[in-house]
Amino acid sequence: MNILLISSSPTLPSRSTALLASFGEKLKSIAGIHTSSLSIRDLPPQSLLHADWNNALLAQAIAAVDAADALVIATPIYKAAYSGLLKAFLDLLPQYGLRDKAVLPLATGGSPHHMLALDYALRPVLQSMGPRLVLPSVYATDAQITAQTLGGYQIAHDIHARLDESLALLTQARPYIYSAAKDQTPAAA
Ligand SMILES: Cc1cc2nc3c(=O)[nH]c(=O)nc-3n(C[C@H](O)[C@H](O)[C@H](O)COP(=O)(O)O)c2cc1C
Repeated sequence: MNILLISSSPTLPSRSTALLASFGEKLKSIAGIHTSSLSIRDLPPQSLLHADWNNALLAQAIAAVDAADALVIATPIYKAAYSGLLKAFLDLLPQYGLRDKAVLPLATGGSPHHMLALDYALRPVLQSMGPRLVLPSVYATDAQITAQTLGGYQIAHDIHARLDESLALLTQARPYIYSAAKDQTPAAA
């Protein structure tokens, strides 16, 4: 199973990227899962904003989404929604660019008040792109992802527990995702 970890914060260091990295670490313990990473921040900004599909890095990023069985998408909450960087990238994918994939949304926000932002803002966008399933999202506040004096972030135990639940759900969904891929295989002659 190929899982693409997508980070979409424009800043570094980044709490949402730390949350994503923590989930990526957990995935390493599961046999048969191959992970790769995509940082939208590292894509050429002009190509991203000018929808330049001929740009090799952008084309590579879009191909990575196409090749993945599942996406884990991490975003900061900006203005009560997900990041503009993420929207700019999603807008470059084909209309049904998430067809038959599983998607797990992750977010970090300054306050708990916007914990539903992923569900009211991002989920409808993802659903419009034909995924097989969008898993329950995981939201952490900045207070649950604390900066360490020597660099890096410490993630609260309850957030680790939420990520472990997401890991279990994603693992259970594997046969469901594979059966979707099989549905698309042309029948043997
Ligand atoms: C421009 C901007 C807008 C933000 N808007 C919100 C918001 O509406 N709600 C919220 O809870 N946090 C908001 N925040 C706080 C960030 O979501 C929060 O610090 C998040 O963890 C940042 O993630 P990052 O480090 O991955 O960029 C905002 C931060 C910035 C810089």
